[in-house]
Amino acid sequence: MKDVNASPVNASIVNARPVNDESARVGQAGAGPGNAVTDANAAPAVAVPFAGKRVPRLGMGTMALAIEGRPDRNTAIGTIHAALDAGVRYLDTAWSYYLPSVPGADGTGVAADFGYGELLVRDALASWDGPRDEVLVATKTGYRRTIDVTPDGPRTPNEPEEETSSPDVPGAHITHIGESAEHPEFPAPAGTSAPVPNASGEPPAQSRQRLQAAGSRYGWMADSRPETMIRDAKESARHLGVDALDLLYSHGPDPSVPYEETVGALKTLLDEGVIRYAGVSRVNNEQIDVAHAMLGDGLIAVQNQFSPSHPDPEGTMAHCAALGLDFVCWSPLGGFLDPVDARAYEPFKRVAAARGCSYQRVVLAWEMTRYDRLFTIPSARNPHEIRDSFSATGMRLEDDELALLDAGVAGR
Ligand SMILES: NC(=O)c1ccc[n+]([C@@H]2O[C@H](COP(=O)([O-])OP(=O)(O)OC[C@H]3O[C@@H](n4cnc5c(N)ncnc54)[C@H](OP(=O)(O)O)[C@@H]3O)[C@@H](O)[C@H]2O)c1
Repeated sequence: MKDVNASPVNASIVNARPVNDESARVGQAGAGPGNAVTDANAAPAVAVPFAGKRVPRLGMGTMALAIEGRPDRNTAIGTIHAALDAGVRYLDTAWSYYLPSVPGADGTGVAADFGYGELLVRDALASWDGPRDEVLVATKTGYRRTIDVTPDGPRTPNEPEEETSSPDVPGAHITHIGESAEHPEFPAPAGTSAPVPNASGEPPAQSRQRLQAAGSRYGWMADSRPETMIRDAKESARHLGVDALDLLYSHGPDPSVPYEETVGALKTLLDEGVIRYAGVSRVNNEQIDVAHAMLGDGLIAVQNQFSPSHPDPEGTMAHCAALGLDFVCWSPLGGFLDPVDARAYEPFKRVAAARGCSYQRVVLAWEMTRYDRLFTIPSARNPHEIRDSFSATGMRLEDDELALLDAGVAGR
């Protein structure tokens, strides 16, 4: 067990891995074709073990390439190629990265969009001329988005769930619920081992619909029933064109499914060889303990929200360190769907101004000092941004800079 500093926002939760360790180096920050991003402090990224591969601690989240506000497909593939050329070796996607039918921005609601995010990653890798086998692809199941695959339009929350086949993916089934959602920014429900208490005593399926309808804004919702998880994971493997998924996360707890059942689905998938490693996302410490106890060495990572504006108040990163688990931070730059508390980023902007670089690069470099098994996975919607972000792998923050940043985050 590592020596864990109890405060989640202290300068070093566990010792940061030295840049010059024996690990393999990947890519060359700032050296990609057409790359205008250079940094005098940048060094080749160090690759560390993760899910059976060796990858730098800065990967790429591909959500922004697949949901509202996404660029056209060629730009999206070019952005993934730019990431891989720069040295990114971890791509993060999800079964549920497609456009919702309701609600959503103009132009959404196309059933043919189902599977878009995973198919994008598959096609980007297939058309990349680099070492595909070095790339770790992680995906998630247990979330879905509203998608209208009926000619009559979306159902209402009160209509019963039913399964429909996707017209685009053979064998695909979508459990569709009308205007229901859980937005990714919403905190995971507290408690782990039982459905959220329901004063009216309604059955879990209705409870799920009611809870999700209450949070409807971007068309996300949890459906982490074991049968859904197992079916979707197999579909994800088909989307990604692999026999076994490198790493599969439970996307998030479902208020109407005991967490043990959701984790049980991951265990089944491990036992059946559908996935090589398991992770859990949007979890509190109690849920991490459940997954750790049930999955043993099969559980390697927790993916939780972490950034200067969301600095892990529950201390899940320190808990991961105590259990020897990797920590992957989602929305590491605060996300792009909702406004963030800009004050949280002021110290980062000051450091960035002094260095003459983007503050996003400073944020990502700071995150990697939190824990030597932390992986950060920023999204990007164009090649420039991901090259810039990746160069954070070569940024060594000085002690006085770290002190300023730590004080700024802790003082909020
Ligand atoms: N497990 C979960 O429930 C969950 C939830 C959310 C996200 N995630 C994962 O986390 C990943 C990242 O989170 P996120 O997409 O919410 O947002 P994020 O990475 O916090 O923010 C991404 C946005 O920041 C801007 N940006 C990125 N790099 C930049 C740079 N170098 N300079 C300037 N601006 C930059 C871009 O916005 P513009 O395009 O507007 O410039 C980009 O879309 C997702 O792709 C997904 O894989 C997981």
